Amino acid sequence: MQPHYGFAGFMGKRVHLGVTGSIAAFKVIDLVRALQRADCMVSATLTEAARQFVTPLSFQALGASPVYTDMFAENPDADTAFGHLEPGQAADVMVIAPASANIIAKLAMGLADDMLSCQALAFPGPKIVAPAMNPRMWAAPATRRNWDTLEALGYVRVDPECGSVACGDTGAGRLAPVDDIFLACLKALAPQDLAGKKVLVTLGPTREPWDAVRFWSNPSSGTMGACVAMAAYLRGADVTVVAGSTGLSFPCDMAVVSVTTARQMYAACTDLWPNMDMGCLTAAVADYRPVPFGETKFKKGTSAGAGITVEFETNPDILKTLGETKRDGQKLIGFAAETGNPREEAARKLANKHLDLIAANDIAKTGSGFGVTTNEMFVLDAKGRREQWPQLPKTEVAWRLWDHLLLD
Ligand code: PMT
Repeated sequence: MQPHYGFAGFMGKRVHLGVTGSIAAFKVIDLVRALQRADCMVSATLTEAARQFVTPLSFQALGASPVYTDMFAENPDADTAFGHLEPGQAADVMVIAPASANIIAKLAMGLADDMLSCQALAFPGPKIVAPAMNPRMWAAPATRRNWDTLEALGYVRVDPECGSVACGDTGAGRLAPVDDIFLACLKALAPQDLAGKKVLVTLGPTREPWDAVRFWSNPSSGTMGACVAMAAYLRGADVTVVAGSTGLSFPCDMAVVSVTTARQMYAACTDLWPNMDMGCLTAAVADYRPVPFGETKFKKGTSAGAGITVEFETNPDILKTLGETKRDGQKLIGFAAETGNPREEAARKLANKHLDLIAANDIAKTGSGFGVTTNEMFVLDAKGRREQWPQLPKTEVAWRLWDHLLLD
C-alpha cells in the first residue's frame, strides 16, 4: 500500500465484511489486514458459495469477529441469537466484496434468504459493494439494471476493473484493487467535515531543466502533500492535486494535474485558485531555475577550463501569489522546510505570504522532512495559535492540519 493511503486512528469503528462466491474472495484477506492496520475492528459473513473459495477460519485467524456463516448455524463467535441483525446494531460500515451477480440482484430486490442478505437488509449505515464476476455476467442487462438500482438505494459502488478473469475472458468484471475498497471504507467512516469544499494541494519537487538531460531539483517524494490531499479527500473534499514529478497514484475521482517546472506549477495553481475554497501548498518548489545551456546535451570539454558556471533566474513564488490574491473566505496553508530556526521562519512566512496556517518542518532532523513517512511539525496560525507536534506519521500530520484549519 502506498504510504499516503495508510491512514489509521479509526479506533472503536467496526467494519462488517460480506464475502460472496468468487475466485477473488481470497483478495479480501488483505482488506481485513488493511482495515486492522487502520485500527478498525472487522467482522465478517461468508456465504455458502464464498466458503467454496475461502474458509471462516482464515478470517477468524486474522482476528475478524464474529464470523458468520449460515443463518441457523451454531455460532460460538457471536453472543446473540439475532446474527442477522447484529452487524446493523454494532458495525459502522458494511462492505460486500467480492459481490457476485447473485448478491447484487438480491440487494437490488431487497431479498433476504440467507445470513448475508438479511444482514444487508437490516443494516442502517453506509453500505459499500465491490463486484467481481465474469465480464458477460457484469454486462448482462439484468446486472446493469440491478447495479443502477443499488446507486438509487444509496449504496457506495466500487466498480470492477477491466482485465482477464479466471475463466480466460477479458473485460470489466475483476474485483477493484483492495486499496480502492479500503479507501471507500475509510471515507464512509471519516467525518465529512470538508464536504462541498474545493481543495487545491501542491506536492512533490519541481524540476528545472538546464540542458537536454540535466535538471535542478530536490529530494521531495510528494508523500507529505499526498497525505494532505488524501486526508481532505477522505473527509469529503473535492480535491485537485498539482503534482511535480513523483511516482504516486491517486484515486481515480481525484483530479491530478502533472507538472514539471515551477513555472508550470505556478500557471496551473493561479488558474485553479479562484475556484478553490482552500489550498495547501506542500510542494518543494525550486526558488531558482538554471539559465538553460540549450536544447542539446552539454558535453564535457565544451566550456573552457576545468569547471563550468551555471547561472540562475528567480522562479515565481506560487504561495505568495495565492496569498496575495486570496478572496474572502478562502483559506491557505503553507509549508516551510527549514534547517535553521523553523519557528522564526514560520512566523515570517505566515505574515509575508498572507497565510491562515503554516506548518514548518526541520528537514535536518532524522524522521522529518524529505523522503520519509514521518514528520515533526511546528504549526502556527494567523490567530497566533502555535503548537509543536511530536514526530508523527505524515498521514496523521495531514489529518491534524485540516483539524487545525477548521478550528474557529
Ligand atoms: O515530499 P516529501 O518527501 O514527503 O517531503 C515533504 C516536504 C519536506 C517537501 C514538505 O514537508 C515541505 O516542507 N514542503 C515545503 C518545501 C518548501 O519548498 O519549503 P520552502 O520553505 O522553500 O517554501 C515555503 C512555502 O512556499 C511552501 O509551501 C512552498 O510550497 C511554497 N513555495 C516556495 C517557493 C516557490 N517558488 N513557490 C512556492 O509556492
